[in-house]
Amino acid sequence: MATILLGAQWGDEGKGKVVDHLSASADLVVRFQGGNNAGHSLWVGGKKTVLHLIPSGILHPRTRCLIGEGVVLDPQVLFHEIAGLKQAGVFRDERERILVSERAHLILPVLKEVDLIRESSSRGTSGHIGTTGRGIGPAYEAKARRIGIRVIDLYSDDTTLLGKLDRLHEAYAHHFEPATLSEIRERTWALISGFRRDLAPLMVDSTALLKQAHDSGQEVLFEGAQGVMLDLDHGTYPYVTSSFTTAPSAGIGAAYPKILRSSRVIGVAKVYLTRVGSGDFPTEMRGDHDPDEVRIGESIRKAGGEFGATTGRPRRIGWQDLVALRHAVEVGGIDEIALMKGDVLCGIEELQGVFKVATAYETPDGLRMDRFPARAEELSRLKPLYETFPLWKHAHPDDPAFATLMSRIEHFTGVPVRFVGFGPEREQILER
Ligand code: IMP
Repeated sequence: MATILLGAQWGDEGKGKVVDHLSASADLVVRFQGGNNAGHSLWVGGKKTVLHLIPSGILHPRTRCLIGEGVVLDPQVLFHEIAGLKQAGVFRDERERILVSERAHLILPVLKEVDLIRESSSRGTSGHIGTTGRGIGPAYEAKARRIGIRVIDLYSDDTTLLGKLDRLHEAYAHHFEPATLSEIRERTWALISGFRRDLAPLMVDSTALLKQAHDSGQEVLFEGAQGVMLDLDHGTYPYVTSSFTTAPSAGIGAAYPKILRSSRVIGVAKVYLTRVGSGDFPTEMRGDHDPDEVRIGESIRKAGGEFGATTGRPRRIGWQDLVALRHAVEVGGIDEIALMKGDVLCGIEELQGVFKVATAYETPDGLRMDRFPARAEELSRLKPLYETFPLWKHAHPDDPAFATLMSRIEHFTGVPVRFVGFGPEREQILER
């Protein structure tokens, strides 16, 4: 049986906690897209673990973790995380727990440098995406340009690999002074022998692995990164990530799609909204309609610890937006919702006992809109039309106010709220 877990907003929904809960019964947890732009914070026994690349399921001793071919893999980050997990006593030998697809593309130093150069040169323009600066976009770009380097390429003879590396570096040469490019080439080549040695025991034919898991009836959990609203096709383009974050992507980025025929797709959503990087969202607490919103947003950011797990950037805060959530349910292929972090709002005095949820927008011409628009420029011009809900005392289905919010979400999106997260600790989640 396969389960696919997706972010149903703009990332940072609390997926790590749901993955951790579900992977207690999983044999295999699979990442199928993105790279170390993700950041899953997990609290186990009062200790915080942040993982960027290795699936969160690693914290369960029985679970094996696969990094599929749809992922762009920075080997330096992988080995750093492996060392940290070993030191924390999570495992002794990574070969028993971590597998890497031979077809996954590598994030090499030149691609990280290009991401950073583009980010700093576009700052202040509409072309500024506010990426995590980890080389994710350039790695997917190189893959589409057919100049990417894959894990399996490391095991070609030196001449063949050097030829491929030359092609990659030449393609981005215009970004660098010749001396800088030479330094990057040398630095990359110096890293290669370590990558070859350390990745070899982890490398697998992931299709064979998944076929075997399917044929032997294993539980496989596909762990999405980022969120549906950051999907390259269905998100708020161009302010999106460079991979596909919807359920069908799991059949491409970890290629044994037959295993997904009867899968269950869970979309994780916070009770409120956050976003990092550029790009508008209609319900952002910007204070243009209500000056108090800025203060409310600040309190939520503080109470919810809403700072990027990867970059530390403060996350932008907004009210719940059911038009966006329904869009995510539809394009993401989501069957059930996991509703997270309702507990964060309980003590926030600035809310004055009321929580707002957008259920439509008004255009500048006064028209009512209840579908999420395709044009990113439109988003800041839409006025959200809100329904108000009494604030709950406990983020729990037994609390009447929280139950009212849950049933509105279910009615609007057409899918049930199956999980409720009510605190950061591992146990603070319930399945209905
Ligand atoms: P990139 O994925 O680093 O290229 O960044 C593209 C956009 O996606 C930026 O707005 C990032 O802030 C956003 N993004 C990427 N990964 C995450 C994530 O895990 N959580 C939230 N936003 C993300």
